[in-house]
Amino acid sequence: MLKVKQLGKIYGGKVTYQALSDIHLTVNKGEFIGIMGPSGSGKTTLLNMISTIDSPTSGEVLIDGKNPYQLNKKELAIFRRRQLGFVFQDFNLLDTLTIGENIVLPLALDKGSVAEMKKKRSEVAEKLGITPILDKRTYEISGGQKQRAAIARAIIHSPSLLLADEPTGNLDSKISKDVMETMESINRTIGTTSLMVTHDPLAASYCHRVIVIKDGRLYNEIHRGDHRQAFFQEIIDLLSLIGGDAHDLSSVRI
Ligand SMILES: Nc1ncnc2c1ncn2[C@@H]1O[C@H](COP(=O)(O)OP(=O)(O)O)[C@@H](O)[C@H]1O
Ligand SMILES: [Mg+2]
Repeated sequence: MLKVKQLGKIYGGKVTYQALSDIHLTVNKGEFIGIMGPSGSGKTTLLNMISTIDSPTSGEVLIDGKNPYQLNKKELAIFRRRQLGFVFQDFNLLDTLTIGENIVLPLALDKGSVAEMKKKRSEVAEKLGITPILDKRTYEISGGQKQRAAIARAIIHSPSLLLADEPTGNLDSKISKDVMETMESINRTIGTTSLMVTHDPLAASYCHRVIVIKDGRLYNEIHRGDHRQAFFQEIIDLLSLIGGDAHDLSSVRI
């Protein structure tokens, strides 16, 4: 459902910087992919090219056979709103809205009916276990609840692709595990194709496949077998092979 061909990104400015080179990636419908690599290796850049937040310098991105970069501005806005769901490290919830209002934003922006919004909101809140906090504001809930609300918002419109950049980056290890179990359950029950950038081997161990980027190039790819625990160990071994900064290892936990 997602194809990335020969993707390259050069950032302009006084000094140009080649952030990505020759990236190829094929993701099947329903797959849950982790993207790992040291800080500055190009993970966010890759995610931004796929999510059309920023455009590639070379190569192609195809989502369900369509190249979003061939759409005009208006079509692209609609494409993003309907086909993509986003989860960020800092949750990106609006403080001026209630949690319930935050969650229905993608439907509201797409001018959905009030009845439909209510129905979907209760379905998704139930799924994520956040029904009791729908009327609360962001400052009244915990980090884990915020991220579950953000995930609810990211999937309420049934996107074809869910994109997450360090979704557990601001959460402690117990809550991270909880959020990853939620991500996994969504992938398993709804079958949303998901792409997640993470530093965290534990978070990555919930994915079906982990690709590792180093210096803007694909370095390796590992597949999960039947055992998450064994996969977790494989991920740690692979990361220690490529080294990286202290931050990469500081987040290792079992
Ligand atoms: N807007 C930008 N302009 C110039 N350089 C950038 C920009 N965004 C990222 N970079 C550089 O590109 C490289 C990859 O960044 P990024 O994709 O954010 O890495 P990661 O998410 O793996 O930590 C880094 O060296 C970073 O400094
Ligand atoms: Mg990043």
